[in-house]
Amino acid sequence: MAKKKSRKPPVKKKVLVDTDPGIDDALALALLYQSPEAEVAAITSANGNLAAEEGLKNIFRLLGFLGVTEKPLVGVGRDWPVSADDARHIHGVDGLANTYLPVFSRNSAEPAAKLLASIVTATREPVTILAIAPLTNIADMLDRIDVKDANVERIIIMGGAFHVPGNATPVAEFNVYHDPDAARLVMTSGLPVTIVPLDITTSLVFGVRDFDAFSHSKEGAGKLARILLPFYLQAHRRYHKLDGVHLHDVIAAALVVCPEVFTTKRAWCDVETEGEITRGQTVIDDRPFSPKEPNVDVVTGFDAKALKNFILARLSQV
Ligand code: BDR
Ligand code: CA
Repeated sequence: MAKKKSRKPPVKKKVLVDTDPGIDDALALALLYQSPEAEVAAITSANGNLAAEEGLKNIFRLLGFLGVTEKPLVGVGRDWPVSADDARHIHGVDGLANTYLPVFSRNSAEPAAKLLASIVTATREPVTILAIAPLTNIADMLDRIDVKDANVERIIIMGGAFHVPGNATPVAEFNVYHDPDAARLVMTSGLPVTIVPLDITTSLVFGVRDFDAFSHSKEGAGKLARILLPFYLQAHRRYHKLDGVHLHDVIAAALVVCPEVFTTKRAWCDVETEGEITRGQTVIDDRPFSPKEPNVDVVTGFDAKALKNFILARLSQV
């Protein structure tokens, strides 16, 4: 009898997640944990949707809720920028839809930049950094290393708004606006960077009918989506006048594990750090005759049906 061909398990990408959880951050983490293509080696929290210390607490909440047994290394960012506005009106006072999930266990956290720097310079296998928060920790990491010594396959940034309005100011997206100097440093660092801008993340809307995918989920990622999304929907209705939600960070996470549904292009991109009313604006040179040397890859499109199905299927998978 012919021997059955066994399917090769996918090669796992080693991923470091820098996050400010946050509802879409939480679901981005859930998506990675549902994906055999990724191994989450470390999670660090940044000041953003809420303070970095609170974000750290949410990381432990989420690891417990998702039943993660192989605990990743964890790091906590610094309390910077001190005076910046958070986004609790979108994500809840606790950052997770006011669910106040229990924290069952905590392991000790290192300073985020120190942890990231030590991993990227010591790892033998190239790492992907998924940056779904303000870029303070990643910039701090760059301050500690020589980029030539960093074994980084790619930094995927959810951030920026090129040809759509911002969500923090008329022209600035939240993650870039929160720490524009850090965003600029990362984008111009010379490391391979892919930007998933608001232009892309707001072009896919998840509505109540999509939430049906989670209606029978009794645990794990599906249940997490079921309990977080109603609050997020209310916030989108109230503040964005949208009868649906944008899963910004989930789309950036999907780029890590399902890159084939996306299209990208090389481009020159930078951040306005000075402007009185334009601080945090991301600028892309889309001119066909641009004399500028491209420094990043930018996501320009995706197969909408395939991407939505992928995200819903992965998150609801038992
Ligand atoms: C980004 O801002 C945050 O509120 C979200 O978590 C996401 O990372 C979208 O602009
Ligand atoms: Ca985020």
